[in-house]
Amino acid sequence: MRRGGQSYPCSCDVQQRGVVRVGCFVPTLSIAAGTIPGMCGIAGYVGPRNAVEVVFDQLKRLEYRGYDSAGIAYLNGTDAIHVLKRAGKLSELGRLLDEKTPESGIAIGHSRWATHGAPTDENAHPHHDRYEDIVLIHNGIVENYLELKQELLREGHTFRSETDTEVAAHVIGREFAQGVPLEEAVRRAAKRMRGAFAFVVFSRREPAKFVAARNFSPLIIGLGEGENMVASDVPALLPYTRRVTYLEDDRIAVVTCEGVTVTDLDGKVLEALVDEIQWDIEAAEKGGYEHFMLKEIHEQPDVVRQCLAGRIDEHARVRLDNAFSETVWQEVDRVNIIACGSAYHAGLMGKYLFERELRLPTDVFYSSEFRYGDPLLSPKSLAVFISQSGETIDSLAALRLCKQRRIRTLGIVNVVGSSIARECDRTVFTQAGPEISVASTKAYLAQCLVLELLALHIAQVREMPGIRIEQEAGRLSGLADKLALALEVEGRMQEVAQAQKDARLAFFLGRNADAHVTREAALKLKEVAYVPTQECPAGEMKHGPLALIEQGTLAVFGATDPEVRDKLASNVKEVQARGGYALVVTTDDDGSLDGVGDELVRVPATGSPYLDALLAVVPLQLLAYHLARARGCEIDQPRTLAKSVTVE
Ligand code: G6P
Repeated sequence: MRRGGQSYPCSCDVQQRGVVRVGCFVPTLSIAAGTIPGMCGIAGYVGPRNAVEVVFDQLKRLEYRGYDSAGIAYLNGTDAIHVLKRAGKLSELGRLLDEKTPESGIAIGHSRWATHGAPTDENAHPHHDRYEDIVLIHNGIVENYLELKQELLREGHTFRSETDTEVAAHVIGREFAQGVPLEEAVRRAAKRMRGAFAFVVFSRREPAKFVAARNFSPLIIGLGEGENMVASDVPALLPYTRRVTYLEDDRIAVVTCEGVTVTDLDGKVLEALVDEIQWDIEAAEKGGYEHFMLKEIHEQPDVVRQCLAGRIDEHARVRLDNAFSETVWQEVDRVNIIACGSAYHAGLMGKYLFERELRLPTDVFYSSEFRYGDPLLSPKSLAVFISQSGETIDSLAALRLCKQRRIRTLGIVNVVGSSIARECDRTVFTQAGPEISVASTKAYLAQCLVLELLALHIAQVREMPGIRIEQEAGRLSGLADKLALALEVEGRMQEVAQAQKDARLAFFLGRNADAHVTREAALKLKEVAYVPTQECPAGEMKHGPLALIEQGTLAVFGATDPEVRDKLASNVKEVQARGGYALVVTTDDDGSLDGVGDELVRVPATGSPYLDALLAVVPLQLLAYHLARARGCEIDQPRTLAKSVTVE
């Protein structure tokens, strides 16, 4: 590949039909709606430079987000679309590019974080349609891809990958083959797809433009002089331009080197506002947030959407594609959940749910204890391994022990293609996207959601009377919006953190699910703010821990469960009577705790005790973050801790 400042002719033959007009100028660091990155990286360029070089550089600038494969498509002349893609690091793709030295005036590129199918060359983007007329990159999830795939298979289409993206490429290609312009083909196809997604597509038959479409997943168009580009995230654009327009939901953009036209799904041309990016590169990598931890906390509404995508159908039935058959779920008589750290805390939530709702005996083990504990394992039991990384050595060793003992194993894992994901009999992915901060936030949330989906799935299979699956599924569907509201307490948590920054000890107390969530919140505070914590069920306080409360001790109470609120109110009083400072988190549908504690924070009520307790983690994650910040701690990489613990 030629390096350096050469320019390449761009064969733009498309008239500029609409212009992007300068609208509001946003001079602040505030986060524009929809700029939270999705899971994968999207890049695209059309203009006089060598587009392949530009797109490769843009992908490098998105590397910080994590990915497991990457690819580029470009047009050399107008004869054919060339696609180069490789599993693994970008350097693998770079080697391929160096061999071919491609040059082009248009290219699109993608770094993939696997959600459908393992991180292989075949599953990497871009993907072609049936006729190799178009090529597509995609972020997000097409929820109804299986249904669309069946339809296409009946029509004789064949597929090379396991991805929903290839299905989307075939749907667009089928429309394009009808003779409509590419833009119209994308529009028609977008109307057929459900889910949260962003696409960029180009065709050898309309060679000087790409068409981008957005539904929930972010897509940003960069505006240059005689060149234009597209990316999923700001850092990819910054070396080339600071003028951008954020594509809104249900919008289609046609991008040529001369201009950008934005239309709605009916083809009506719309005005698009231009923003001037003020961030430096480092801030942009974090989406304008100071730390990855804060960014990941704020990504959680999107994580809920991604995690649930395609898993609750229109009849409110839970679909877990990769779980066991119905016979297995009928047979399982005991569950052992095995995990470490935050994943262990998610496991405690699983026990709460399985025993309370399904009456299914469940134990939770630290992986390191399980593997050396000579565990009692019944042949009909199920071992569930929860892990963000899928590589934690103790969890992996415990998994191998279960396999030796011929126990069924199920993984709840974030990283597709990881060891635990590969070695478990079945794996359900949390679909939380790459988590970079050492302290887990969004992955924990997604693990708890998958456990809820699993519980509903088992209840469905077992046709359990008394569990209103439709109602619970409806609550899950409304959760993302409630989570966004829960994040609004940030200002108050910042004030509490400032006031409590010199705390020498913090108690975390709750009952039932609240006890498990506050235990996770305590871990956050320990990990990032280095505050010693004492976490226990609130009723256990009197049996020892209460002796540690003194003037100024911080005590955090999870108080979302209406069944035990009165009891908890008494525990708050016990703490205050000894000079402790009580922060209480409850739901917004209850007034019984008004005036209780020194600070009362409310999260939106969901109607489900499990989800209420889970939402309470959000203000407490923010508390840990802001307390750490107030104490000047290294937040994303706390001292002596690692993101993935692959040594014993
Ligand atoms: C480390 C991380 C924690 C994580 C734990 C388990 O301690 O710092 O955030 O919860 O490992 O990791 P896993 O990848 O198995 O979920």
